[in-house]
Amino acid sequence: MPALAISENILCVGVQHPDRKMFDCLMPTPHGTSYNSYLVTGTQKVALIDTVDPDFFEVYLHKLKNLAITQIDYIVILHTEQDHSGSLVELLKYYPQAQLVATANVIKLMKTHLHIPADQFKVMNEGDVLDLGESSLTFHKIPFAHWPDNTMVFEQKSRILFSSDLFGSHYASDRVFATDSHEIKEAARAYYAEIMMPFAPQARKYTEKVIEMAPLMIASAHGPVWNDPSRIIKKYLKWTSEKVDKTVVIPYVSMHGSSNVIMERMTWRLARKGISVLCRDLGSDPESLVVQTGHALNDLVTAAAVIFVTPTVLGGPHPAVAYCSIVVNALRPGVRFIGLAGSYGWGTKVEEAFNTLTSGLKKPERLETLLFEGLPTEEELVKVDEYADRLADKILGLGDDLL
Ligand code: FEO
Repeated sequence: MPALAISENILCVGVQHPDRKMFDCLMPTPHGTSYNSYLVTGTQKVALIDTVDPDFFEVYLHKLKNLAITQIDYIVILHTEQDHSGSLVELLKYYPQAQLVATANVIKLMKTHLHIPADQFKVMNEGDVLDLGESSLTFHKIPFAHWPDNTMVFEQKSRILFSSDLFGSHYASDRVFATDSHEIKEAARAYYAEIMMPFAPQARKYTEKVIEMAPLMIASAHGPVWNDPSRIIKKYLKWTSEKVDKTVVIPYVSMHGSSNVIMERMTWRLARKGISVLCRDLGSDPESLVVQTGHALNDLVTAAAVIFVTPTVLGGPHPAVAYCSIVVNALRPGVRFIGLAGSYGWGTKVEEAFNTLTSGLKKPERLETLLFEGLPTEEELVKVDEYADRLADKILGLGDDLL
């Protein structure tokens, strides 16, 4: 993609990576991603905000050279993760006069991750302003809008907020501005689920701060620029809300059909009570576990409950359910209820193992575990009905806490 202007003094000079399939070896990126870098030109100085993934350094350098960018006065690093800072050492060989600029948290991590000494940086504190001449960048720390070092900067002339990971999406596109497409919304939600959800209270606080700043655009570190910031802000207000919707997510595996019967009966009964149910089959496709876990996480952004349904395998949960529960445990969705159901052949320790795997989920109420030896009988399935009815009543009883 060529460099694109998003205002009279700001260019997008980052690169697109449409073929990227996974991020952090964890989250599927079906639309690829982009590594966004922005060039801000004042009447006196030129600042570059962030770099790109080091695998794309040559493309990036070529772009800067094509634009005849011979002088960069400042390189501002908003976040140390290498997909944003990883080209810095190489870039400095071509722009050795550039002054590095970052907050103390970034500088600390740049030393350990890129071995760049702290004394090479100009340190910026909360509210500090980098003057470029008729354009300036104001620094705001947003720790744990992924890592402890994330920073956002507000450009005063065009009123554009460079938000680092906050409000990002893994979405490669030749169009610089976000459209209203379903795919872009889903990419932003998936990004929220896998990057921001563990830090929802912080993301909430930063979103409220951004509303006060009233930017005309939000330019994140990944994905298209939000030229109508209200679209992504409204989504973040919903996703970071402590309210939940009347949805139960059921990640499940069934080896010989027994767990499937439980999942189907529970789904049917919950649906009869007016509860939406999203079931994610973790085991039927050899390549689908990571994708289905990603879908489950996306579902869980606003869901009221998660119920894992699993057979017992060698005493514990099926490994696919174990994987999904570890990821859910790490990403801490705001569900109010968590439960386990399933079947076993002749003995089980599945509940103990599951409770250990999900021990980080302290806020949701832990429901009783529902286990059946072999294929549930019709009498046993009445217990599934009763379980689903109790869960539905709990969810409907949330009242004002429902979205
Ligand atoms: Fe794409 Fe946390 O960085």
